[in-house]
Amino acid sequence: MGNRQAELVWLNGRMVPKQEAFITPDDRGFLFADGVYEVVRWYGNFFLGMDGHQKRLRRSLAEMRLDGFDVEEFPSVCQQLLEVNQLQSEEALVYLEITRGASPRTHHFPVQPVPPTVYGFARRFQPDKHAGVAGVVIALLPDIRWMRCDIKSVSLLGNVLSYQQAKERGLFECIFHRDGLITEASHSNILFVRNGVLFTHPESPLILSGITRGIVLQLAADLGISISLEPVPLADLYTCDEAFLSGTSVEVLPVVEIEGRKIGDGTPGKITRQLQEAFKQLIIQRGIEFVRPIPPVINF
Ligand code: PDD
Repeated sequence: MGNRQAELVWLNGRMVPKQEAFITPDDRGFLFADGVYEVVRWYGNFFLGMDGHQKRLRRSLAEMRLDGFDVEEFPSVCQQLLEVNQLQSEEALVYLEITRGASPRTHHFPVQPVPPTVYGFARRFQPDKHAGVAGVVIALLPDIRWMRCDIKSVSLLGNVLSYQQAKERGLFECIFHRDGLITEASHSNILFVRNGVLFTHPESPLILSGITRGIVLQLAADLGISISLEPVPLADLYTCDEAFLSGTSVEVLPVVEIEGRKIGDGTPGKITRQLQEAFKQLIIQRGIEFVRPIPPVINF
C-alpha cells in the first residue's frame, strides 16, 4: 500500500482499515486453525481460474461442514478488495479466509450456530522473474502433514515448519514424500517429466488439487504431451528428466536441483519451458480478451 492510503481489508461483510480489523481471541480460527482459505491471482485485468478457486472453496467448506458463507460472493469481495485498495490495474494476490466463527473454546463445533468469520485482503504481487528463467533449487522432506491435504485449511503447521527448514537453507521450496511417493510441495504442486511423459500425483486426500496444476494439465493435453496421473516414487526422483512447480504464486517454475542433486542436466527442461511459455501466452491471451474493445454494432 505504501503511504498512499491505509490498507482496507474485508471483515465480516464490510471494508475496514486494517488497523481496525479486530478478531476476538475466541475465534476458532485462532484457537483451532478451524478455517479454510483461498488465494487468487489478479493479472491487472482478470482473475486466473476464478471458477476453479470458487469451486474448491465450496468443496473445502463442505468438507469442513462450515456453513454461513455464500461462495457466490467470493469474486465480488475479491474485486472490491482490489478497488478499495486501488490495485485494479496492478498485479495482485487476493486472500480470503473463513473460520468457524467465535465461541468459547470447546473441541466440538459451537452448539448454537455462530456466523463464520470472513477476512480478506489484497496485496500487490509479482513473482520472482529471475527464478522463472534460471529455475529453483528445492528441498526434499518427509510429509508430516495430516491426511486431508485436499482441504485448503488454514491448519498449515506441517507446511510452515517444513518450508521454514528449506528457507533457512536458502532453498526456494520443499517437496514432500510419504510412503515412498512424492506428494506435492509446501505451497505449490510438483510435476515431473520422464521419457517425455508428464507425471504428477493424482487428486487425492494427500495433495491439494491446485488450480494452476489443473490449468497446466489442460495446457499439456492441448500441446499433445502425454500425461500420467501417477505419483513419482522417491526411488525414481533423480532419474526424472525435468521437474517444475505449479501454483498461484509460482505459476510454472522450473526446478533444477532437489536436495543437492541435479534434475536432468541441471537446467530448466524442454517440456517445462514449453508449458511455461503456454502459461505465459494464456495470461497474455486472457488479458487481450478482457481489454478487447466491444465491436461497434453494425446495423444492416
Ligand atoms: N498455496 N499445494 C499447496 C499445499 C498449496 O498451499 C498450494 C497453494 C498449491 C497450489 O495451488 P494453486 O495452484 O491453486 O495455487 C498446492 C497458496 C498459493 C498459498 O497457500 O499461499
